[in-house]
Amino acid sequence: MKVLLIGNGGRESAIAYKIKQSKLLSELKVFPGNGGFSKEEIIPKNTFDLKNKESVQNFVTQEKFDFIIVGPEEPLVDGITDWMEEISIPCFGPSKYCANIEGSKDFAKKLMKEFEVPTASYETFYDYENAIKYLQNKKMPIVIKADGLAAGKGVTVALSEKEAINALESIFIERKFGSSGSKVIIEEFMEGEEASIFAICDGNNFLVLPAAQDHKRALDGDLGPNTGGMGAYAPAPILNAEILEKVKEKIFKPMLNGLKQKGYPYKGLLYAGIMINNNEPKVVEFNARFGDPETQAIMLLLEDDLLRIMFESAKGKFTSDKINIKKGFSTIVVLAASGYPGDYPKGIEINISNPENNSTFIFHAGTQTREDKIVSNGGRILGITSFAETLQQSVDLCYHYLNNNHVQNSYFRKDIAGRAL
Ligand code: AMP
Ligand code: GLY
Repeated sequence: MKVLLIGNGGRESAIAYKIKQSKLLSELKVFPGNGGFSKEEIIPKNTFDLKNKESVQNFVTQEKFDFIIVGPEEPLVDGITDWMEEISIPCFGPSKYCANIEGSKDFAKKLMKEFEVPTASYETFYDYENAIKYLQNKKMPIVIKADGLAAGKGVTVALSEKEAINALESIFIERKFGSSGSKVIIEEFMEGEEASIFAICDGNNFLVLPAAQDHKRALDGDLGPNTGGMGAYAPAPILNAEILEKVKEKIFKPMLNGLKQKGYPYKGLLYAGIMINNNEPKVVEFNARFGDPETQAIMLLLEDDLLRIMFESAKGKFTSDKINIKKGFSTIVVLAASGYPGDYPKGIEINISNPENNSTFIFHAGTQTREDKIVSNGGRILGITSFAETLQQSVDLCYHYLNNNHVQNSYFRKDIAGRAL
């Protein structure tokens, strides 16, 4: 198969690592990729316009791709899977309708309500005045969410009414989130511990991947501002068999059956962000794609041919009802540019050695090749990812590498997976 992988993050580096092991792969191209990919693999940014249906369709047809794998949410929400269906090219990822589960929080909440999937109670607001009125006499904390895609920045967990009002102002009045600012969800705050669970779906059935937990805050002790994710580990010990069963029966099954009954079978990856309290999982959010950095950890745990499973998902028929997972644990520690998620320098030179053992992998994220050098061009630069028999060993392998390979103007958290050890 000649495969086109879309995306440029650590997630895509990890997916590429895994599908390169497949006998089904004849050629891999990546658009736009990062400094971890070879020159031959990379399709330069201006080759086609990912936002434009004809442009994508023409490029894919001309280059005779057999299969498209979509990493990030934006092209899915734009409808790339439907565009590919029109020209009969299988594409991993949900249809535009189903991707709206991530594209609109209001849409996702309505479906959860309809299919009785456990989640926080909520109200939807279309204007500032009514939203403000609703806040009066409400218990704090409360959660304010801009409706649309906001690159992970549209959510505020407000500890006070003042914070909640500020959040509403920035969405409705300052329009910080553009068109996402026409609708707001105000949601009950859920206590508990968060985890990410991914299911690969073929429209009828689903295969659950090992549960992961990520660290969203920038600093040790889960302090500091929210980031795209500073590290993750899998399988997360908190997800015992009982909770996993509940996630399957009360979350994935009703969601996927409900969508199918509506005439919109879900194919591709369904990401359930859950909150666990007293052994009960509730949905925080759904995403229509693999999570980053959880995917980097999960890829090291998969025994089976991921390319085959993704292709079967896109074609709408799995050939097996189980997925084989390695015994052991994996951990990723993200190396980020100093200052991230605020202002940070770019163009940091990356001179690091290859890991000395075959259990540690360096997944590139915000990097690019510039005249034979690898330099940073994003906030999250590399993901140091290790597999081992125990969680502690996988953590140690990551820090052993990081302590022996210094990158200037960068930092990483020292306590990844600490809460599970
Ligand atoms: P989301 O983009 O919906 O995942 O929200 C981003 C983050 O905000 C989540 O990962 C949670 O840490 C937090 N969050 C969102 N909704 C809630 C909620 N109802 N209760 C508590 N925390 C929440
Ligand atoms: N790690 C969180 C996400 O991918 O949304």
